[in-house]
Amino acid sequence: MNIVETGLTFKRGLHLKNRIVIAPMTTKMSFFDGVVTNDEIEYYGLRSGEAGAFITAAANVHEGGKGWDGELGVYDDRFIPGLSKLAATIKKNHTKAILQIFHAGRMTDSKVLQGVQPVAPSAVAAERPDAQTPRELTGQEIIDILESFKQATKRAIQAGFDGVEIHGANTYLIQQFFSPHSNRRTDDWGGSLEKRFKFINDLVDGVTEVVDQSGVKEFIVGYRFSPEEYEEPGIRLNDTLFLVEQLSNKPLDYLHLSMPNYRNHSVSDAFKDKPILDYIKETINDRLPLIGVGDVRSQEDVETILNTADLVAVGRSVLIDPHWTQKILDKEDHLIRTELSHYDREDLRISNGVWGFLESMMPERLK
Ligand SMILES: Cc1cc2nc3c(=O)[nH]c(=O)nc-3n(C[C@H](O)[C@H](O)[C@H](O)COP(=O)(O)O)c2cc1C
Repeated sequence: MNIVETGLTFKRGLHLKNRIVIAPMTTKMSFFDGVVTNDEIEYYGLRSGEAGAFITAAANVHEGGKGWDGELGVYDDRFIPGLSKLAATIKKNHTKAILQIFHAGRMTDSKVLQGVQPVAPSAVAAERPDAQTPRELTGQEIIDILESFKQATKRAIQAGFDGVEIHGANTYLIQQFFSPHSNRRTDDWGGSLEKRFKFINDLVDGVTEVVDQSGVKEFIVGYRFSPEEYEEPGIRLNDTLFLVEQLSNKPLDYLHLSMPNYRNHSVSDAFKDKPILDYIKETINDRLPLIGVGDVRSQEDVETILNTADLVAVGRSVLIDPHWTQKILDKEDHLIRTELSHYDREDLRISNGVWGFLESMMPERLK
């Protein structure tokens, strides 16, 4: 048995049958109001049953946190029936179902929010074309959002998921609190590095408490983060190592990097000796399992990443070939489909939104 097939048991007792995890990928397939659609169920069903775990697309915990149309919602009890169907679909053949929970913060616009201005830690627009300036959250609104993450976790438990992943990556609200670019506050929630961590600290404590008080066995909590920003000021790897140090002492089940390529090196001169993944793993120092990610395509990639990380997440390879995981487990790399054609889209349940995203991210793999 090789390392990929050895499985892994998390702190809260949940066991994964192998070390491959399907990375969270937004499908843009939910109804306009965030309810799961049948197309979406088919998309997940087609890809589930082989990997140890499947993390869902980001699901928004608060109406004001909607990032785009077609996004999953978990901000009200009325989503529970659809989410239950989604969890049951993923939990095929012992694959574990993890719901990713998030709030978009300033990474949305008033069109998606139907006339409402986006909110963020501070009234600073993101550095992207046509970004709207958000409204600064009040202290009470911050408390309400923390509460909405707890409520979303309760709904994930009720819906039958095996865990939640707190989406602290990809520049959305949680990351916005940690970033000196988007968080210019001078109250308890901003200022120093420690204060910019307060939102994450309270969020992780709140969500893990909900899980531990629920009495439900083997429900896990993971945390995802992006290691660096390019904005000035912005999060640098040094800040992230502080974040990782704090999170490694929390009652979390895993940490999950978000990177386009697992081989990436830091932009900071002080951390050029080895890939970012290595610095993160060293800082965790075996307190928690780490999920590595980014452009994993082959058996060799899986083995290389597992030399450092404990688990490997795979996104685009599984979009293109729904049976990528089994082919890797069977050591049949030569059977893996590596390109996506327009004609395959219907069979593979690739929505317009995902196709558009892939056109900008990996045109070389589209035919
Ligand atoms: C279509 C698409 C949608 C994505 N949506 C999410 C998301 O909802 N949440 C998230 O944390 N990452 C999201 N990502 C990032 C992936 O989880 C992953 O980190 C990234 O694609 C790199 O892995 P890969 O090279 O195996 O695809 C998305 C990526 C793609 C391609």
